[in-house]
Amino acid sequence: MNILILGSGGREHAFAKKISESERINNLFVAPGNAGTETIATNISISLTDFHAVKEMVLENNIDMVVVGPEAPLVEGIHDFFLGDEALRNVSVIGPKKDGALLEGSKDFSKQFMEKHQIPTAKYKSFTSKTLEEGKLFLDTLQPPFVLKADGLAAGKGVLILNDVNEAKIELEEMLSNNKFGKASSKVVIEEFLDGIELSVFVLTDGKSYKVLPSAKDYKRIGEGDTGLNTGGMGAISPVPFANDQFLSKVEETIIKPTIKGLQLDGIDYRGFIFIGLMNVNGKPFVIEYNVRMGDPETEVVLPRIQSDLVDLFEGVANQTLEMKTYSVTTQTATTVMLVSGGYPESYEKGKEITGYDSIKDSIVYHAGTTSDQEGKVVTSGGRVMAITSFGNSIEEALDKSYRNIDKIAFDKMNFRSDIGFDLK
Ligand code: AMP
Ligand code: GLY
Repeated sequence: MNILILGSGGREHAFAKKISESERINNLFVAPGNAGTETIATNISISLTDFHAVKEMVLENNIDMVVVGPEAPLVEGIHDFFLGDEALRNVSVIGPKKDGALLEGSKDFSKQFMEKHQIPTAKYKSFTSKTLEEGKLFLDTLQPPFVLKADGLAAGKGVLILNDVNEAKIELEEMLSNNKFGKASSKVVIEEFLDGIELSVFVLTDGKSYKVLPSAKDYKRIGEGDTGLNTGGMGAISPVPFANDQFLSKVEETIIKPTIKGLQLDGIDYRGFIFIGLMNVNGKPFVIEYNVRMGDPETEVVLPRIQSDLVDLFEGVANQTLEMKTYSVTTQTATTVMLVSGGYPESYEKGKEITGYDSIKDSIVYHAGTTSDQEGKVVTSGGRVMAITSFGNSIEEALDKSYRNIDKIAFDKMNFRSDIGFDLK
């Protein structure tokens, strides 16, 4: 099979590595990819949302399957584009169509979906600029902290959690009337604050059956002890110790099954990943959000734990034979630590040479924001630069390997969190 992966982060390098290990793969391409993916696949420089450029590439290279990494092409309808095109119709796309991608593309849609199918989530109401005053009155009925969410995609920045009701009213007005997050905040979901511990569960589905992938916890804040600005993710751990069999069976019964059933009842033919952001509130799981893709850096700990052939599972998704596919996961713990550019998630410099990573033997080095310069040197090209993943019999053992290997890697102004997993040990 010839496969094209869309994306350029650590998640896509992890997909590329796992797919390249499959017996089924002939030619593997990544668009646009990074300096890591180019060592195991062919990088193609195209924009992910330029569907016509993707089409040309797919036809030129006889691609059989497209694996979509990030949400934007899905929300913009890449899967629908393939199905609507005579020449592309038989190419499999791993990722939902526009209707399913709304689970991530619209918070209001996802809340309505959960309410309709009785999936546990925080109580909520949605408002537009026309109902701004009602929104302010609604805030008066709630207890702090107040949770305000832009309806649309806002690059992970669209959620505000505020302690002061007057501040919440000002922010609501900024979002609805002054386009704080552009079109994404023309509608705002206000919801009840859930007090608990977060984790993520990942599901792969062909629309009929599903496989529950390993759980993971990511560390989103830039600073140690979960302080400072939000980032795309500074590290991750899988499995999550408090997500024991009893908790996961509650997740399966009260969330995963009703989600798959709900999609079927609503006529949404969903083929791809569902990333369920959860809050464990005193042992009861609530959905914080759905994403319609894998997480980054969660993928860098989830995929290495999967022992089955990923391409075989993807074929099951495409042909709706997932139920018949064998699926197994190692019991070992995987941890990843993200190396980032100094200054990230605010402004940072690029083009810094990265040294020392290619001698590492007992960790997996996933590239994220890296590129090869004209002299062939690997340099930084983004905020999140590399994810260093290790296995162990415990969180400590795995992290110890990652941190020992990080000591060998260097680039100017390199930064990372030295306390990944601090709350789980
Ligand atoms: P989201 O983009 O919906 O995942 O929200 C971003 C982050 O805001 C989540 O990862 C949580 O840490 C936090 N959050 C979102 N909704 C709630 C809620 N209802 N209660 C508490 N924290 C929340
Ligand atoms: N690490 C969180 C995300 O991928 O959305």
